[in-house]
Amino acid sequence: MAEGATVGVDADAGTVWTAVVLTLFPAMFPGPLGLSLAGKALAEGRWALRSVDIRDFARDRHRTVDDSPFGGGAGMVMRPDVVSDALEASHDPASGRRLIYLSPRGRVLDQPLVRDLAAGPGVTLVCGRYEGLDQRVIDAWAMDEVSVGDVILSGGEPAALVLLDAVARLLPGVTGKAESLAEESFETGLLEYPHYTRPQDWNGMTVPEVLVSGHHARVAQWRRDQAEALTRERRPDLWARHVQSHCEAPESLDPPNGGAKTVGQHPEPMKTNQD
Ligand SMILES: C[S@@+](CC[C@H](N)C(=O)[O-])C[C@H]1O[C@@H](n2cnc3c(N)ncnc32)[C@H](O)[C@@H]1O
Repeated sequence: MAEGATVGVDADAGTVWTAVVLTLFPAMFPGPLGLSLAGKALAEGRWALRSVDIRDFARDRHRTVDDSPFGGGAGMVMRPDVVSDALEASHDPASGRRLIYLSPRGRVLDQPLVRDLAAGPGVTLVCGRYEGLDQRVIDAWAMDEVSVGDVILSGGEPAALVLLDAVARLLPGVTGKAESLAEESFETGLLEYPHYTRPQDWNGMTVPEVLVSGHHARVAQWRRDQAEALTRERRPDLWARHVQSHCEAPESLDPPNGGAKTVGQHPEPMKTNQD
């Protein structure tokens, strides 16, 4: 896609959820976001994406965007004047779009933040490279810093793709069934239960009998038990938050099967309808 190009409707029209991405690598966008659900929605104008080449705002004929750090040390730092000019040209604070610098020092991206962003008019994302942005431009523009986890990427672009993918699928009309969104990991505060599909017997491994029982209430209870057990086992941090948010009704949080490990295991010897 051409640098600075808009995908979807006019990114500044304000009619659809809009992402403006400031980057040194505009060719990385839409990238994977041009495919599948997000890409179809982009083509249909359900959301819009514009990439802005920060290098277009360099002030010298070499198109320099970085310089060595004051105080010494390895690496280069992105110049505040260049980044700020790119923002002046592309980010109107009156648009209501959240201004986010993808940064390993930021608040870690999670589903509540994704939901929050999806509910607004859009985002302006600044992708760092090298050692990152000069602190003054972060401060002057009061950027929110968002991390995609405790890893160091070579640039903010993959983090921006992650954030945009997570938001796009929540936008109206992008994902088919609303209930499939509602049950997913994190939406309920729990990790999701295991899934099974055909064949019912695969290499001698059968599916939990309850799932072929036709008893909707038993299926729902089994899934809830599995989700709780999985969350307890793998994400004690999420489990603790879940327990806290349900502390008025502690009886609903008794460990499934007395706390025994059940995740991904069949609660009883498997029988299939083919037996
Ligand atoms: C090599 S990193 C800079 C790392 C920085 N010197 C540090 O130690 O925190 C270059 C850029 O990648 C992006 N980045 C790296 N890791 C990230 C993460 N976990 N989440 C979001 N962005 C990240 C940021 O935009 C950052 O400015």
